Amino acid sequence: MKPIRTGIRTRRTARTPALFGGISQRAFLRDYWRKRPLLVRGALDPAIAKIIDLASLRQLASRADVESRLVDVHRGRWRVKHGPIPRSSRPAGPARLWTLLVNGVNHHIPAAQQLLERFAFLSWARIDDVMASYAVPGGGVGPHVDSYDVFLVQGRGRRRWRIASPQEFELVDPAPLLLIKNFRAEDEYILGPGDMLYLPPGWGHDGVALEPCTTFSVGFRAPRADELGAAFLDWLHEHRLPDTVQLATGNSAGAPGEIPASLAQAAGLVLEHMRPSAADERRFVGEYLSTPKPHVVFHAPRRALAEPAFARALARRASIALDPKSILLHRGGMWFMNGESFPAPLALRPCLKALADTRRAAGWPAVSSALLYDWYLAGFILLSG
Ligand code: SIN
Ligand code: CO
Repeated sequence: MKPIRTGIRTRRTARTPALFGGISQRAFLRDYWRKRPLLVRGALDPAIAKIIDLASLRQLASRADVESRLVDVHRGRWRVKHGPIPRSSRPAGPARLWTLLVNGVNHHIPAAQQLLERFAFLSWARIDDVMASYAVPGGGVGPHVDSYDVFLVQGRGRRRWRIASPQEFELVDPAPLLLIKNFRAEDEYILGPGDMLYLPPGWGHDGVALEPCTTFSVGFRAPRADELGAAFLDWLHEHRLPDTVQLATGNSAGAPGEIPASLAQAAGLVLEHMRPSAADERRFVGEYLSTPKPHVVFHAPRRALAEPAFARALARRASIALDPKSILLHRGGMWFMNGESFPAPLALRPCLKALADTRRAAGWPAVSSALLYDWYLAGFILLSG
């Protein structure tokens, strides 16, 4: 438990847990975020240990609309089984060290969503989800490196984390776990219920359960440049490419091996057309960043109100909350909800901004809004009160 080369500092909270112990969010952003790890003892109420038990985790892992993995060590080799994982499934035989990991538990467990919302100051465009893991004593996913920021919040039991600063790690197997060969830890910490370890991208880490334990990982999205580029080409294809127009064929003008000038020019014109305008860029980036993960499924309200009743409820100051799976972002007067962009009537904007920032808003103006009703029917927003 001694800080060595990593320069990690331990923060201890006073009686009311403050996420970063004695330091402010501002100081966290300045001194730690994307720079160096931070261990906070008692960052959260130890009751966090109770927000999910193994039975509920198994139940979530058995669903097709939930992303889950079962990791175990078999004869010295790490194995990963992707969900849905039947409730009864657990590694048998000599493989006794296993971990069950479930992504997006905040979509199903309100207390996990409340945990995620503690990190809202870091931007909803970056926040991913809460992954919960359950490990048997000795279990873990092995020493590995992640390409994103993560807050590791200890739930039930104790876990020993060993960490190493970013370096050219030699990987056992690049996929899917990014396991590190010959991992040499520089520091180690034992976390108990409510303790939290922040790790910037690229830090090697190895968490081993000392007793049956749950860990909540609050992860952040970090779009990769190649993925963003490929998604943009798909977006262009869907929105702007004249894919039915045939290029001028031209002719060889006596040199059959030469590319005809008219054909080269026509191809150049098509590529020219692909250059995004500033408006395209804004729209694509907003739609891309607000796209939920592929597993996510939205459900229409069970007994949906008809549009006039919906409008009456809003007029009576009903409040609207985002479904926990929804991502609502905005920039430059454009609104991006779950991968689609919308212009919004001016009168709605203050409430929409509150909805995007705090995930709930009341006091909607008395404008009939087809936009809100569409979102309600799609299951993107919930009406209450
Ligand atoms: C775990 O909860 O077992 C793994 C979390 C992580 O390393 O990101
Ligand atoms: Co990790």
